[in-house]
Amino acid sequence: VSRKQIAGQLPEGFRKLAPGQRKAAWETLFLLDDDERAAAAAGPGAFELADLMVEAAVGVVPLPLGLASGFVIDGENLDLPLAVEEPSVVAAAGYAAHIIAKGGGFFTEADEPLMESYVYLEGVDDEGLARIRTSEEAVRAALTAVQSSLERRGGGFRSMKAERLPETGLVAVELSIDVRDAMGANILNTAAETAKPLLEAASGGSALMCILSNASPARRARARFSLPLEVLGAYARGCTGMEAARRMALAWALADEDPRRAVTHNKGIMNGVAALAQATMNDTRAVEAAAHAWAARTGRVRPLSRFELREGALHGSIELPLALGTVGGSVDLHPASRAALRLLGNPDSSRLARIASALGLAQNFAAVLALVCGGIQQGHMRLHAARLAYRAGASGPATREAAGLMARSGVYTLDAARQALAQLETASAIPVGRKPTEASTTGQEGVQV
Ligand code: MEV
Repeated sequence: VSRKQIAGQLPEGFRKLAPGQRKAAWETLFLLDDDERAAAAAGPGAFELADLMVEAAVGVVPLPLGLASGFVIDGENLDLPLAVEEPSVVAAAGYAAHIIAKGGGFFTEADEPLMESYVYLEGVDDEGLARIRTSEEAVRAALTAVQSSLERRGGGFRSMKAERLPETGLVAVELSIDVRDAMGANILNTAAETAKPLLEAASGGSALMCILSNASPARRARARFSLPLEVLGAYARGCTGMEAARRMALAWALADEDPRRAVTHNKGIMNGVAALAQATMNDTRAVEAAAHAWAARTGRVRPLSRFELREGALHGSIELPLALGTVGGSVDLHPASRAALRLLGNPDSSRLARIASALGLAQNFAAVLALVCGGIQQGHMRLHAARLAYRAGASGPATREAAGLMARSGVYTLDAARQALAQLETASAIPVGRKPTEASTTGQEGVQV
């Protein structure tokens, strides 16, 4: 079957195949050459898990896992596992960690893992709302019955609040629950559904829906660092430490003033946070949704972090909600996330949130420092060059060597990559590449910087 014939459609009957047949058909029809099969076919163990984790599984997407080394967080040396497709993320995190360690590292804290779940009721009059407000103990008793193991671990139902929403007239009943080391979605949704019949009976209304809120504003983590200006100056390209700190503080003020910059400032933070969430098989969408909602809590998107110049030092700080689990879901099911958590010393959820907040701040520090002292594109393109060399057919050490040649010329295009490879081949008189395929050489052509 040719690539053109099958592009964009599954053959008839594909969906009805048994899992193993589905995987084999996928690999035969859509992974076209040895390169693609070697890089993208799922091994038997990985496929068995994938088939457990999602419906209609055909394989896995093997995202790179990198280790950002050199973090000092609350006095502990840590290497952080990051799963991410963007080239500069791991390098930037490690670079920032290394610099910030010279100022004593990060200091962090986290709130109790309190999250909220909601029962939204319609048809509730004011007497019904008053009766809901006297039902807290009945709800507590009903939840104790389904949360005994959570209560044994120190978590469980904490409080209940009810309010009428002015536009729809719906009554929102908020259940606040300590979810301990879980991300919490299952606990929270089960709690709301357990409380629903009781709340309907008490209020005379009927439930529209029962669902957690991913906002998780009570489950926040914070990190901070201080960096003497002479340390900063040693790493700021073309800037003194004082000038770099002044520019970084101004970059914070810019992000605080202009939401268009705040979005990108926060995206840089989430580069790290989401990569750690991904490496530990946490719900990255929940973490992103909560962070951006928190950033916009005043009605305008503002930076999650802050940089200040005072007392001869640059001070960085960050605060954001982080619903990260260390048990439940895929987190302790998948061997890859179990290994990632092992590297982190098997933290509880609050420690993982603290680590993630420090990582987000590190990522942000590296990005903002590069942006205000020299720009980021030179460094990014150097990393991009290796991908262009790979697309051009390089493999092994030749990929990095070709990238080095491209960096020296400052031209980052597929043609430049081909020329660099030819140059290496002439110099070494041996082939330095894979055979590039049609599939691997299509795509972005690159740019000149
Ligand atoms: C790129 O992934 C992230 C940055 O754009 C973040 C920032 O602008 O602060 C470099």
